[in-house]
Amino acid sequence: MIRAVVRGFGAALPKRVVPNAELEKTVDTTDEWIVQRTGIRQRYIAGEGETTASLGEAAAREALERAGLEPQAIDLIIVATASPDNTFPATAVDIQARLGITGGAAFDMQAVCSGFVFAMATADAYLRTGLARRALVIGAETFSRLLDWNDRTTCVLFGDGAGAVVLEAVEGEGTVADRGILTAQLRSDGSHKAKLYVDGGVSTTGTIGHLRMEGREVFKHAVGMITDVIEAAFAATGTTVEDVDWLVPHQANRRIIDGSAKKLGIPLEKVVVTVDRHGNTSAASIPLALHAAASDGRIKQGDLVLLEAMGGGFTWGSVLLRW
Ligand SMILES: CC(C)(COP(=O)(O)OP(=O)(O)OC[C@H]1O[C@@H](n2cnc3c(N)ncnc32)[C@H](O)[C@@H]1OP(=O)(O)O)[C@@H](O)C(=O)NCCC(=O)NCCS
Repeated sequence: MIRAVVRGFGAALPKRVVPNAELEKTVDTTDEWIVQRTGIRQRYIAGEGETTASLGEAAAREALERAGLEPQAIDLIIVATASPDNTFPATAVDIQARLGITGGAAFDMQAVCSGFVFAMATADAYLRTGLARRALVIGAETFSRLLDWNDRTTCVLFGDGAGAVVLEAVEGEGTVADRGILTAQLRSDGSHKAKLYVDGGVSTTGTIGHLRMEGREVFKHAVGMITDVIEAAFAATGTTVEDVDWLVPHQANRRIIDGSAKKLGIPLEKVVVTVDRHGNTSAASIPLALHAAASDGRIKQGDLVLLEAMGGGFTWGSVLLRW
């Protein structure tokens, strides 16, 4: 049985760090409020010349280097993003060209904050069915350019960045001892659209628009949706919460992360948290967190790693993989 195994990982952040104190100068907020409600202390904000494609390219280069692969070895690029460089073509083809890759397929995936989970699931399906052999899965965002910087209820929450992994098709035994993606569980429910959306678009306003959110409504649904897809991953693989070495959640809010871990019975020592440093970087948050925990030696080869995300749509999903 073919498994999609992580061979390399990378990350990139903009140069400029914006601590909460800096936002106190522009909107009616305080560091104390932001930390208490969200756990966020700072975020990175893209400057001139830093775009979703440039950040994605940098993350991809590091992932390729760690994998020991030349760019031409890649035959699939999926970029999870809701903040592309252009309406079209896909940011993935831009990154493909920047890397000098001339073969294979490249496309974007739009599932907002769940984008990286959806992209991993998609790459897994391509690799297992033989449509591709080596994939770059990238989560890259410049959400700062979608924010209404006068809206204190949203502008304090998000940041920019990118993360990437290289997945390779490897023959496995078909058991949960295999390295690679063991299951992916994806869900969407468009009836929640109005709770988290961007109020512009190509075929409606002809503008980019700004992010709008009913934060309390999102919060209310998050923990239940996250635990639903995690329990589905356990059921699909016959694993249990005790088997998990690392939970790498989407980094939206410390309270959602802690609430989900508590409901599932996962001790906080096994949860990777970067939201304090990065804020919510949407589709980039999971690969940025993976990079943090794998590069400092916490996540080791053979560890069982659980990814989960929930975001606009709503969309939500989980991926269970052995590192
Ligand atoms: C956004 C969020 C942090 C707000 O926290 P909350 O405890 O729900 O706070 P509320 O929205 O109830 O607002 C409480 C008060 O704080 C105020 N407030 C909102 N943003 C503020 C800010 N940045 N600074 C200071 N006060 C703020 C509100 O106006 C409100 O004031 P009021 O009671 O006078 O009306 C929280 O709802 C949340 O994290 N939701 C999930 C958001 C998310 O993760 N989205 C992304 C999913 S991918």
